[in-house]
Amino acid sequence: ADTLRLAVIPGDGIGTEVTAEALKVLGAVLDGGATKVATTEYDLGARRWHATGETLPDSVLGEIREHDAILLGAVGDPGVPSGVLERGLLLRLRFELDQYVNLRPSVLYPGVATPLAAPGEVDFVVVREGTEGPYVGNGGALRVGTPAEIATEVSVNTAFGVERVVRDAFRRAAARPRKKLTLVHKHNVLVHAGHLWRRTVEAVGAQFPDVAVDYAHVDAATIYLVTDPSRFDVIVTDNLFGDILTDLAAAITGGIGLAASGNVNPDRSAPSMFEPVHGSAPDIAGQQKADPTAAVLSVGMLLEHLGLDAEARRVQAAVATDLGRRASGEIAGPRRTGEVGDALAALVS
Ligand code: NAD
Ligand code: IPM
Ligand code: MN
Repeated sequence: ADTLRLAVIPGDGIGTEVTAEALKVLGAVLDGGATKVATTEYDLGARRWHATGETLPDSVLGEIREHDAILLGAVGDPGVPSGVLERGLLLRLRFELDQYVNLRPSVLYPGVATPLAAPGEVDFVVVREGTEGPYVGNGGALRVGTPAEIATEVSVNTAFGVERVVRDAFRRAAARPRKKLTLVHKHNVLVHAGHLWRRTVEAVGAQFPDVAVDYAHVDAATIYLVTDPSRFDVIVTDNLFGDILTDLAAAITGGIGLAASGNVNPDRSAPSMFEPVHGSAPDIAGQQKADPTAAVLSVGMLLEHLGLDAEARRVQAAVATDLGRRASGEIAGPRRTGEVGDALAALVS
């Protein structure tokens, strides 16, 4: 029988709470099957930083590399300067492990409450570039704290980096029924990066004649996400636009508590990492108020990535059933994080 080696990084705040439930569901869906799971839990995040000053030691990164996949909860803590853990841990993992495809599906499940009056059928995926853009840390500050301060964050877009994520997005679009790809950028203002993205989509698109190509400036894309989200199938975009669009995408499809993601290394030169789109939510941390569904659906994406399609489908079906029960009123009122996890674990068993 196969053993899946899973690195687990619960992280901070609700990250630890939702990860416990995700592991519960993973255990339940694999129980009795041919695939076993061996988890290694890594104590990374605020506690480790306070204790040792470390965010992600090289030795730990080396160990994590030896796993088949990574499950992460969330990182970030009000007691740690903003950016230390986000950059030093989360972004470092995405960059070092070359997870250049940040996959963020948005599906409005039947009956799920949405703030939109007329959502139509919402089923799209954002392919967010994961290793470049304004996230690379190319910038600096001069005369900090003075009236003459200058701060720069330079967005880095390489032909290599843009091409590989655009190609991945076209492959995904070609495999979907609607076969539509929308580039979201802002090439009317960001002319250097924007036209590189535009030309790349044009060139790669020539090799995918079945895929219809569309474009929206990022500001207009936020309008369409609210007024006409069913127009989207695959969205390809840069790291920062993708970050912002996917919180909005979560909000229109039932909320941030349902939004799953994968940081995928399609070349498989290093493990891919799966995590909810949300953060550590300090406002509700430690209270068992967080919805673990996003973390559970991230486990579903992880299983699919590893070729465990039947198990992945069972996780998705369990979530759909649970959401249906919420919609019908069969499940009333707020549930504790652990109760949702128990319900989902029972449904996949
Ligand atoms: P957040 O996603 O943590 O929270 C935004 C809002 O959504 C909050 O009101 C929160 O209570 C709510 N929320 C989030 N997840 C929820 C869930 N599962 N169930 C119910 N409600 C949920 O974003 P933020 O407040 O901007 O950031 C908090 C911290 O998390 C910061 O340190 C930030 O850097 C970090 N962060 C980390 C990640 C990550 O690890 N991938 C992602 C986003 C933010
Ligand atoms: C996310 C988060 C991260 C991002 C932060 C915490 C670095 O917002 O995963 O969406 O911007 O990618
Ligand atoms: Mn985000």
